[in-house]
Amino acid sequence: MPTAVVTGANSGIGWRFAEKLIEEVRFPYFLPVIAQATKNHQSFERFDARYLTAMDFSRFREVYANALQQGYTVYACDISTSNKLQTLKTPHKHTLDVTSPISIQKFSQEFGSQPLNLLLNIAGVMSPKEEDSLEKTSLEVLEKTFAVNTFGPLLLTQSLLPNLLQAKSPRIGNMSSRMGSIADNSSGGAYAYRASKGALNSISKSMAVDLKEKGVVVVILHPGIVKTGIDKTGAIWKAEGAVEPELAVSKLWEVLMSKGLEDSGRFWHRDGFELEW
Ligand SMILES: NC(=O)c1ccc[n+]([C@@H]2O[C@H](COP(=O)([O-])OP(=O)(O)OC[C@H]3O[C@@H](n4cnc5c(N)ncnc54)[C@H](OP(=O)(O)O)[C@@H]3O)[C@@H](O)[C@H]2O)c1
Repeated sequence: MPTAVVTGANSGIGWRFAEKLIEEVRFPYFLPVIAQATKNHQSFERFDARYLTAMDFSRFREVYANALQQGYTVYACDISTSNKLQTLKTPHKHTLDVTSPISIQKFSQEFGSQPLNLLLNIAGVMSPKEEDSLEKTSLEVLEKTFAVNTFGPLLLTQSLLPNLLQAKSPRIGNMSSRMGSIADNSSGGAYAYRASKGALNSISKSMAVDLKEKGVVVVILHPGIVKTGIDKTGAIWKAEGAVEPELAVSKLWEVLMSKGLEDSGRFWHRDGFELEW
C-alpha cells in the first residue's frame, strides 16, 4: 500500500485530502494492475479494452477490487490534533508544527526509514486582511506566515527526502495560492500571504529541478476559494465562488495525479489550467 504524509490534516483542505487518500486508489498503481489483468497485452500503452477476453475481465475485476480496498497509509499531521483529525480512519495521527525543526525531526523519526510515495504540504496560515495591509503588516505577521507557508514545506520535504527517494514514483504536492502569483495580482494587499506563497512557488520550482533526475514529481496547486478555517473572520465562507473542500479536493486530486516529470514544477489551478508566476 502506498504511503502519504499530509500536513494541515486537522482542517479544511488537508483534512479532506487525508480522508480521500485513505479511501482512494492511487492512479499510477492502477496502471500496472490493468497491465497485469490484461495478459494478452505486454504493456499498458498497448492496452485496448476491445481485445479483452472474458477471462481478462474477470481477472481485472478481481485485481481491481483488491486495489479499491487499498487506499493509502496516511500519516495525518497538524499543529493541533483535535476532534476533526481524530475522525480520520488512520492510526497515524501526529502533532507536527511545520515551523519547528524539533517537531519536524521528531515526526521524521516517528515516520522512520520507510518509503514515502506522496508528501502533501497543505498546512497554511493567512492573517486577516486588515492585519496584513501595507499600513498594518508587521514583522510578527511576516515571520509567522513565511514560517508556516514557505519554510515549513521546504524543511519538512528536506527531512523526508530520503523516504521519498526510496519510493516508487514519488510525488510532492505543495498547496500554494493564486494570491502568490505576481502576474495575477490585481487587488494588492495581503503582503505576507502573497509573498509567502510566491516564495513557496519559487522553492517548489527549485525542488522540481533538483529532483527531476531522481524521479520525484513536484506539483504546485491552487485550490480556488474554499470554505475552510484559513480565514479566521469567516468572510471566505461568503466569498463569491467559494466551494466546499470536497469539491476542491476531488479536482485537486485529478490535477495532482495527472502530472508527470515533464510537468514537474508547474503551477496549476484546481480546474486544470496553468497559472502564471
Ligand atoms: N481556503 C482557501 O480558499 C485557500 C485558497 C488558496 C490556498 N489555500 C491554501 O490551502 C492550504 C490549506 O488551507 P485551508 O484553507 O484548508 O485552511 P485551514 O482550514 O485553516 O487548514 C490549515 C491547517 O493548517 C494548520 N496549521 C497552521 N499552522 C501550522 C503549523 N505551524 N504546523 C502544522 N499545521 C499548521 C492549521 O491549524 P490551525 O487552525 O490551528 O491554525 C489548520 O489545521 C493552505 O496552505 C492555504 O494557504 C487555501
